[in-house]
Amino acid sequence: MTSGLEDPAARAAALRAELERHEYAYYVLDAPTVPDAEYDRLFRDLQDLEAAHPEVLTPDSPTLRVGGRPSSELAAVAHALPMLSIHTETDTTDQGAVSFDARVRRALGLEVSAPPVTYAAELKFDGLAINLRYEQGVLVQAATRGDGSTGEDVTPNVRTLHRIPLRLRGAAPAVLEVRGEIYMRRDDFERLNASQAAAGQKVFVNPRNAAAGSLRQLDPAITARRPLSFFAYGLGEVQGWAMPATHSEVLDALAAFGLPVCEHRCRADGPEGLALFHQEMAVLRESLPFDIDGVVYKVDRLDLQQTLGFVSREPRWAVAHKYPAQEVATRLLGIDVQVGRTGAVTPVARLEPVFVGGVTVTNATLHNQGEIDRKDVRVGDWVIVRRAGDVIPEVVGPIAERREGELPRYDLLEAISHVCPECGSHVVRGEDEAVARCTGGLFCPAQCKQALLHFASRRAVDVDGLGDQIVNQLVNAGIVRTPADLYDPARVSQEVLAGLERMGEKSAVNLLAAIDKSRDTSLARFIFGLGIRNVGETTAKDLARHFGKLEFFLAADEAALLEVPDVGPVVAHCILDFLAEAHNREVISVLQREMRWPETEPAARPSVGALNGKKVVLTGTLPSLSRDEATALIEAAGGKVVGSVSKKTDYVVAGSDAGSKLEKAQQLGVTILDEDGLRCLLKPADAGAPDGQGMLFGE
Ligand code: IVH
Repeated sequence: MTSGLEDPAARAAALRAELERHEYAYYVLDAPTVPDAEYDRLFRDLQDLEAAHPEVLTPDSPTLRVGGRPSSELAAVAHALPMLSIHTETDTTDQGAVSFDARVRRALGLEVSAPPVTYAAELKFDGLAINLRYEQGVLVQAATRGDGSTGEDVTPNVRTLHRIPLRLRGAAPAVLEVRGEIYMRRDDFERLNASQAAAGQKVFVNPRNAAAGSLRQLDPAITARRPLSFFAYGLGEVQGWAMPATHSEVLDALAAFGLPVCEHRCRADGPEGLALFHQEMAVLRESLPFDIDGVVYKVDRLDLQQTLGFVSREPRWAVAHKYPAQEVATRLLGIDVQVGRTGAVTPVARLEPVFVGGVTVTNATLHNQGEIDRKDVRVGDWVIVRRAGDVIPEVVGPIAERREGELPRYDLLEAISHVCPECGSHVVRGEDEAVARCTGGLFCPAQCKQALLHFASRRAVDVDGLGDQIVNQLVNAGIVRTPADLYDPARVSQEVLAGLERMGEKSAVNLLAAIDKSRDTSLARFIFGLGIRNVGETTAKDLARHFGKLEFFLAADEAALLEVPDVGPVVAHCILDFLAEAHNREVISVLQREMRWPETEPAARPSVGALNGKKVVLTGTLPSLSRDEATALIEAAGGKVVGSVSKKTDYVVAGSDAGSKLEKAQQLGVTILDEDGLRCLLKPADAGAPDGQGMLFGE
C-alpha cells in the first residue's frame, strides 16, 4: 500500500471507486482505461486492505466478484413485485404487430381517427430473467424469476458478473429494482463448451441452458469462471426516484446508472413501426453475437401502461412477437452418408420432418464421426436440430432424457463396410482424424461432381450457370469427368448441352459462352480451382504471386513451396501429393493449353504498398466495405489478409459484432483499426500517417 497513514476506510473507498471506473469502461463501454496489470495491482491492494481491516469491506466491493463460499442450496426470495410473464404473439408475420396494436387501442378506448400509439420496441433475449435490487445505489440482492412470486437468491453468483455494476453511477434512488436478462454470447458459449468437452465435463445444448446452469450454481466461484452477460429491460420495486414518463426514458436512465442496455431498440409508432422493427431485427438476428427468439413491444408511456394493467399475470401493455424457432426437437430416423469434393464422407441425419428456421427440414448434417462420438448421437434418439439463416441445418445433440432403452452407438465405417457408397473405393479414417475419406479421387463420381462445381465456382475460374443440375447430368451421362473435359468440343458442344434436361438452345449457347469466358483466368483462381486440400483462396493467391507462372508452380519441390509466405509442411505436402497423382497432372496439362493466361502474371508484390508485407485480420461487419472489398484494398496495398490473430498479426480491422478475434487482439496488444483507420492507412504516404482518428486502441 502506498499510504499507511491514510484512513483505511477512505483508502478502500477510493480504490473501489477507481476499480469501478475501470470495470465500467472495460465491460460496459468496451473502452479500457488502464492496462490489465495496473487493474490487477489496484485489485490486490484492495484485497489486502480488506483482509487487514475486515470492517472496511462493503457489499459493493469488487473483491466480492471472485465468488464467496459455496452454499448448500439457493435460498428462496419473495419478490417485492411479482415478475410477470409476457403474452406471446405466435403469428410471426406483420399480423402479430397489427393484432397487438388493435388490442391496445381497444383497451384504451381509442377512436379509429386517434393518432397512432407510440411503443418501445426491443429484443427478446433468450436467457433467464433476473431481478437486481439496489438500495442506496448498492447491489444488495439478485434473484431469479422462479414462479414469478418467489425466486432463488443468486446474489453472490451475480456479483461475479463484471457487466453488472455493484454500485450504480450517479445519484441513485433509495430502492431501485432492475429487471433484465442474463444470457451467454454465442462465441462465449462455443468456447465454454469446447473447454468443458476438453475437461470431460458436461456440454450444454444451447446458450440459454448454459446461462441458466452457470448462474444457478451453489458455488459462486464456478459462476465466476463462466462468461455470462446481461441486459437490463425494465423495473421492479422503486422508491425515492422521480420516474421518467416513458419506458424508453427508463432504459436511458438505466444506461446512465451504468447498466448494460441493448442498443438495438427504438420508439415505434403504430403497427407499421412495430412490423418494421420486427423485420429489421429478423435481418440482424444472424449477425447478433447472442440468441434472440423474437422482439418485445411495450406501450411507451408509463401512465398508459398503468391504465392498461394486467390480465392473468400478463401485462396488457406488452407483447413478445416471435421469430420462427431456430432449434426444435425431432426424431433421428437414420444416418445416410454423403461424399464431398475432397472425399470426406459425411454422415447426414435423416429426420422426422420438422419445421425449423422457417422451412421444413428432413436432413441435417452430423459433420463427422468425431462429432457423433462427442455428442453421443444414436439412431432412434430425439435430437435438437438447428437451422439459423442460410446455414446448413445441423444436429446439435441428443436429448439424453428422452432416450428409450438401449440404442447402439453409430459407427460410420462399419455402416458402410469401409467402402464408398458412390464408387466402391476404400474409405479410411486416419488415426486422430475426425473425418473419414474415400480414396477414389476423381474416379469417384461424387468427388468428381464436387470438384467440377468447385473449379467452376465464382471465386475459381467462374463458369456462370454451371450448377448442380447440369454437373449431375454431365457426370452421370459420362460426358464430363474432369474440369479439362469442359473445354473439349468433342464432349461439350451446343448440341450436347441443349440435349440436357431443363436446357434449351438459348441456355446451351449461354453456357458454352460462359465456359469459353472462363478461359480468361488468373493463376491464383486456377490454383484455387484445383481444389487441393488446405489450399484456400488466400494460399492460392500467395502461390500465384510467388511462382508467377504455372510451370514454376508445377515444378516446385518441398523446399521451394516452403519459401512461400505462410506455406508450412502440411500445406506443402497436400500440394505435392496432389501433383504427384498422374491423373491430376494430365488434367492440369490439358487445362494449361486450354486456358488463356494473362500476358504477365503480377510477379512479386509491388514494393510500394502502404501495407507491404503486413498481416491483417478482418473481423466483424464493416460499415461500408464488404469483406471482399476490404481484402482487395489490403492486397492492393501489398498486405495480406490472414484468418487468425497471433503475435505476428500487424493489424486487426474490426467492424460491428467482432468477437473473439477482437478480444485476442486486445490481449496480444495488436493494433486495432476500424474502417476509417484502415482507409487512413491505405492513403498514400504523403497524405500523412494514420492520425489515430480511426483507431480504437493505440499501439
Ligand atoms: S419484459 C412485464 N423485455 O421474456 C413484462 N422480457 O415472460 C416483463 N425477456 O422470461 C418482461 N427479453 O426474461 C421483457 N426485452 C425484454 C425481454 C424479456 C427477454 C424474457 C423475460 C421473461 C420473458 C417474459
